[in-house]
Amino acid sequence: MVDKKQLNDNIPQHVAIIMDGNGRWAKKQGLFRSVGHEKGTKAVREAVESCAEIGVKYLTLYAFSTENWNRPKLEVDTLMKLLVTSLKKEIKTLQENNIKLNAIGNLQSLPGKARKELMEVIEKTKSNDHMTLTLALSYGSREELIKTIEEISIKVKNGVISPHLINESVINEHLYTKNLPDVDLLIRTSGEKRISNFLLWQIAYAELYFTEILWPDFRKEHLFEAIYNYQKRERRFGKTSEQLS
Ligand code: FPP
Repeated sequence: MVDKKQLNDNIPQHVAIIMDGNGRWAKKQGLFRSVGHEKGTKAVREAVESCAEIGVKYLTLYAFSTENWNRPKLEVDTLMKLLVTSLKKEIKTLQENNIKLNAIGNLQSLPGKARKELMEVIEKTKSNDHMTLTLALSYGSREELIKTIEEISIKVKNGVISPHLINESVINEHLYTKNLPDVDLLIRTSGEKRISNFLLWQIAYAELYFTEILWPDFRKEHLFEAIYNYQKRERRFGKTSEQLS
């Protein structure tokens, strides 16, 4: 079990999490999937608090993918309701911990009530600067890239951008994540080893960490363990070890 005291100063600036396993957690205990999602909100709270505690500046959570719209209507409704209740409940914690809420994805497709609540909390927390918590909602990386290419193409057509000046910065500026740095550490729970259409461009140099823990069981010590593991790795960004030292 890793304790906070075992971590050094090399805290990843941007941590992203694919929160997986709510359904399997519920099934294992003979409960409805919705109970798994509900328990998952507790793990969200704990991950947010522990990241804020150790100085992670950006935490991005994959809360609802573009593909999740294909789940049974009852489950989609439950997730949207949980979003609204969690936002209402957690605004106080966000303010107390000086955390700014941000959202990425096709937010227009969210039900009106969820979008309204989300926008209100984003507005109320916009001056907070200890950490930025980004919820990926109705998010799909391919959809984001298509939108980016479309927007840049229109600018090229209108003569606003010259094609040979398109570089990484131009692309970054058109992504939903334009205000976020690249991901340093990507965590996925539940033992699945997939990226599932999450931040494909932004994880180019991220360290990947997979754990068997199901999301509702994910606690502070699991987060610290992931960071501890990250701190033991050598990030070379294409260079050799000798060049780095
Ligand atoms: C994956 O588990 C989890 C989700 C699709 C939703 C994540 C949502 C929460 C943690 C709760 C609400 C979040 C916020 C931010 C308020 P799964 O259902 O795919 O699990 P399975 O793979 O075991 O079926």
